[in-house]
Amino acid sequence: MTISETTKDPSTALGGVPTVEYTIPGMAPDAGAQVVKNLQERLTALTDLHLTLKHVHWNVVGPNFIGVHEMLDPQVDAVREMADACAERIAAMGGSPVGTPGALVRQRTWDDYSIGRAGTTEHLGALDLVYQGVISDYRAAIESVGDLDPITEDMLIDHSTDLEQFHWFVRAHLENAGGQVSSAGATSEVQAAQQAGESRNGL
Ligand SMILES: [Fe+2]
Repeated sequence: MTISETTKDPSTALGGVPTVEYTIPGMAPDAGAQVVKNLQERLTALTDLHLTLKHVHWNVVGPNFIGVHEMLDPQVDAVREMADACAERIAAMGGSPVGTPGALVRQRTWDDYSIGRAGTTEHLGALDLVYQGVISDYRAAIESVGDLDPITEDMLIDHSTDLEQFHWFVRAHLENAGGQVSSAGATSEVQAAQQAGESRNGL
């Protein structure tokens, strides 16, 4: 097999469970391959998330601009670190991490973030939904790898601790003194943004 045959389209091996020639000592190769698949899904979600957070960082406008704009950069940096950790864990387990933009779009099961220039409240409402998706999928991944690889499980739990805190930072902007979040119950980013904006305006 030539190098071009193995690297021409790195996402083609991602439809099912990838094969690995070796994995962590003490782990069966098929267990390693299953964990690699889970880690690749986390890598895709995290790459999408840190790009989306930067997009919001650039596109927020209106009151509270600087607070929200500056709140997002540390989240971008932390999520990039998480993506790097997942990718390097894939490599350590004998897999090949896929981080190209085209592969990301082919692998993901959600649409691109749908809001451009908009108010801080609208973007935070939409980000509430984004974080709900990422965090729910992290919980499922932790459950999935728990019996196969406690080391990966531990890493994903660490990531979740930070992701869940970042989600709180977002929701705290949308919460009233009664503990109600203005974007609650929305099923799309546009709906969440609209609900949050209307709540801010007292509609
Ligand atoms: Fe910036």
